[in-house]
Amino acid sequence: MWNVTDEIDLVSFDEGSYYQDRAGFFARLRESRPVAPVRMPGHGRAWIITRHADVRAALTDPRLAKDVHRWPGGGRSRPSEAVNCHAHMLNSDPPEHTRLRRIVQKAFTPRRTERLRPRAEEIAAGLLDAMAGVRGAVTDLIDGYARPLPITVLCELIGIPVADRPWISVAVIDYGKPEESARVTRELAVYFTELIAAKRARPGNDLLSALVLTRDHADGDGTGDWLTGTELLSTVFQLVMAGFDTTVNLIASGTLALLTYADEMARLREDPSLLPAAVEELLRFTNPVNHATDRFTTGEVLVGDEVIPAGEWVFSAITSANRDPDQFPDPARLDLGRDTTGHVAFGYGVHYCLGAPLARMEAEVALGALLARFPAISLAVPPEELRWRPVSLMNGLESLPVRLA
Ligand code: HEM
Repeated sequence: MWNVTDEIDLVSFDEGSYYQDRAGFFARLRESRPVAPVRMPGHGRAWIITRHADVRAALTDPRLAKDVHRWPGGGRSRPSEAVNCHAHMLNSDPPEHTRLRRIVQKAFTPRRTERLRPRAEEIAAGLLDAMAGVRGAVTDLIDGYARPLPITVLCELIGIPVADRPWISVAVIDYGKPEESARVTRELAVYFTELIAAKRARPGNDLLSALVLTRDHADGDGTGDWLTGTELLSTVFQLVMAGFDTTVNLIASGTLALLTYADEMARLREDPSLLPAAVEELLRFTNPVNHATDRFTTGEVLVGDEVIPAGEWVFSAITSANRDPDQFPDPARLDLGRDTTGHVAFGYGVHYCLGAPLARMEAEVALGALLARFPAISLAVPPEELRWRPVSLMNGLESLPVRLA
């Protein structure tokens, strides 16, 4: 049963090594208390699940819910905000989730993603050209490459006009800063509302137009095969936010992993057909998303040997599951040829990442182009000097100084 004295403070426990070495931290927790009551940074009391088998079970258990209106004993409301941008699939449970996801999936198809590949290649080449100007000097790969590539591709996907992209790029970065988030939410809501109206008036060949056209019913009642105005706005928000930092992290941490394991990088250079498998192993190894988003127990739930009471927050530690030796032998070793079946970098169950084909395509393009263009790229600082952002949801580097050659 819940015992407050058992609670582990995720950040102060283990002398704060949580942010700098989450895989190491989770390895110890997985051994000592695989389903543990914790104090989550920015979230308060919760439970964290660290074994691969338990994480997969939790992510498919309908008693672990997302929609806060289903909170045991009468539901909870979100803190009131001027703009409702939360009415999207990742905040809902079936059958509502099934409806929202089906509508978006119809428009956001793997074919639409594949059509973007040549544009992603052009964008990557343009960014690499710009960085080639600093050949030999030290440059931050995140500023010059890993960050601008996904945001530009997302703008192409959604149909954000070229003139607005510099502003959007700044806005999505500011959105992640707690002190800026309320202001940016309001500004983005105004912007996206106008953009939706513009697409309705003059649809283009982009995802937002496709969502508007799926069934143009902005005042729907939330039950049919269309998105209400609030759902559409929330969905645009979610796609931009879900598709940005995650992919930045995969490109940056993936590059770092290859720079750290020189033999594996050489293996990939020799055989570029390894690229899709390499991206899967880099997902497993780097875990751009550290843990799944919060869920709560709608009743008592047995996970592993632990009974989690009703009305508790639960987090499934993706970083930990993907480094569980019961699932992946020698998990701390990067091995581009390993069998990565069952990795949970994109989650598992009904909320499995809808943007996975896009993320994979972008990582293949980004890493393939980078390695081909700079055969002697190297890390410009000792690895232990690199800093990871103190954000619990994501595993993201602050910067990645490299020397291009
Ligand atoms: C390397 C890049 C990415 C990673 C590692 C990643 C990871 C994840 C994970 C772990 C989840 C499940 C969260 C949970 O169950 O709590 C998720 C859901 C989602 N992701 Fe991604 N993601 C990536 C890129 C993208 C992109 C590019 C998009 C779209 C532009 C996207 C859109 C979504 C959406 C819409 C969901 C919610 C699905 C649902 O609720 O049914 N993601 N992602």
